[in-house]
Amino acid sequence: MASSRFLLLLSFLILISSSTPTPTPTPTSTITIPLSAPSSTKLIISSKNPWGALNHLASLSLSRAHHIKSPKTKFSLLKTPLFPRSYGGYSISLNFGTPPQTTKFVMDTGSSLVWFPCTSRYLCSRCDFPNIEVTGIPTFIPKQSSSSNLIGCKNHKCSWLFGPKVQSKCQECNPTTQNCTQSCPPYVIQYGSGSTAGLLLSETLDFPHKKTIPGFLVGCSLFSIRQPEGIAGFGRSPESLPSQLGLKKFSYCLVSHAFDDTPVSSDLVLDTGSGSDDTKTPGLSYTPFQKNPTAAFRDYYYVLLRNIVIGDTHVKVPYKFLVPGSDGNGGTIVDSGTTFTFMEKPVYELVAKEFEKQVAHYTVATEVQNQTGLRPCFNISGEKSVSVPEFIFHFKGGAKMALPLANYFSFVDSGVICLTIVSDNMSGSGIGGGPAIILGNYQQRNFHVEFDLKNERFGFKQQNCVS
Ligand SMILES: *[C@@H]1O[C@H](CO)[C@@H](O)[C@H](O)[C@H]1NC(C)=O
Ligand SMILES: *[C@@H]1O[C@H](CO)[C@@H](O)[C@H](O)[C@H]1NC(C)=O
Ligand SMILES: *[C@@H]1O[C@H](CO)[C@@H](O)[C@H](O)[C@H]1NC(C)=O
Ligand SMILES: *[C@@H]1O[C@H](CO)[C@@H](O)[C@H](O)[C@H]1NC(C)=O
Repeated sequence: MASSRFLLLLSFLILISSSTPTPTPTPTSTITIPLSAPSSTKLIISSKNPWGALNHLASLSLSRAHHIKSPKTKFSLLKTPLFPRSYGGYSISLNFGTPPQTTKFVMDTGSSLVWFPCTSRYLCSRCDFPNIEVTGIPTFIPKQSSSSNLIGCKNHKCSWLFGPKVQSKCQECNPTTQNCTQSCPPYVIQYGSGSTAGLLLSETLDFPHKKTIPGFLVGCSLFSIRQPEGIAGFGRSPESLPSQLGLKKFSYCLVSHAFDDTPVSSDLVLDTGSGSDDTKTPGLSYTPFQKNPTAAFRDYYYVLLRNIVIGDTHVKVPYKFLVPGSDGNGGTIVDSGTTFTFMEKPVYELVAKEFEKQVAHYTVATEVQNQTGLRPCFNISGEKSVSVPEFIFHFKGGAKMALPLANYFSFVDSGVICLTIVSDNMSGSGIGGGPAIILGNYQQRNFHVEFDLKNERFGFKQQNCVS
């Protein structure tokens, strides 16, 4: 914290649309979680090596994209490249146990299990991030909670993660007895650049003065790699927080990163709803969530991107990248756990080339491109103002997301700007499966974003998240 002047604090926020005259939910139907910037969500842009920091973020986003694009192999350990990582994510605090213990979690719409670092013997390997102070990772202690129970092998919640076939593996359980003490197998989950492993618990999730949820399925992680903080999965599978709480919708507004140590925060709003409310939140543009035909990518929130517009030009993105095929590959997802938006190479090339073409009035900063891995970068030193084309995503249903300049060009220092979209060198089809476009949190900043689960639609409007 001492060097926080050089830290880029990312805080998470969820805006309650308190000023909007929505049909008022009953007081108990909305849960608001205030979020402050936890230590592990700091992005450090050291003034000594800003290019290195950008490169680091780009690597993280790529690593995450690699993971998301691989078919789900949640419970076996996959090998993926390990990159130096500081979190480019946003996190929340949740209270588990009796009496409640507070733990921090990265809010992740791209995965589903909720887990925390657990027991006094929790081990995190390679968690000595150069830019993050991990001075004793706070862990959840099941022994100090009267409501902690291991999930049994026969428990249907065990099947949420392991599928119905897990029942046949409950060998110690005599099929004629109800009474099986064998626990659900340990889980191993792979993330973009890290992983975690542990045992499933049934615990009480407590929102003080609002709501208490007994029997919440939560992962007690005993060992992690490059994952010093818990993760709250907000994906679409049954074990996710929204699924277990039966949320009708949730919304947030991600604050912009700031080069100071002000702990900016905003709110994540969980709406447990009631009745048959299909009213749209005033001011939001909506696009329907899409179904991916394959189970492998069932965790993700797909939206249908129809067009990318740069300045006056419609970028001609081939259809196969916009719509998931029968093999499940292609399409666009919204992921709060990815920092920079990822685009598969052919899409990215079209976008990067269009910017290079339209921003011919600035010199390309090749050296910075080399150091950051981002492209294109332009040297704007000496310019009094910056002029670059607009960047707009057009979604099905007519919803347009016009990105604020700061959401697609990074200003590392006043001299150079870089397009904050990443890709990789996957060539040919068959190598890069999964979503073709992953809309990351850097591009979602200063938008009020709503996941309307009941009505299967994604809503957004541009808004200053720091009110
Ligand atoms: C269930 O377990 C308890 C304690 O382990 C034991 O006393 C009881 O007999 C068991 N019941 C059955 C039906 O196996
Ligand atoms: C960029 O990197 C490539 C290969 O690493 C190198 O050949 C080239 O000279 C570099 N360009 C600049 C401007 O540093
Ligand atoms: C940008 O251009 C200026 C002069 O035009 C030059 O002095 C400076 O080194 C350039 N910066 C980078 C990062 O290339
Ligand atoms: C990726 O491709 C670009 C050119 O398309 C090349 O400059 C770069 O070195 C490649 N990177 C890797 C890691 O292969």
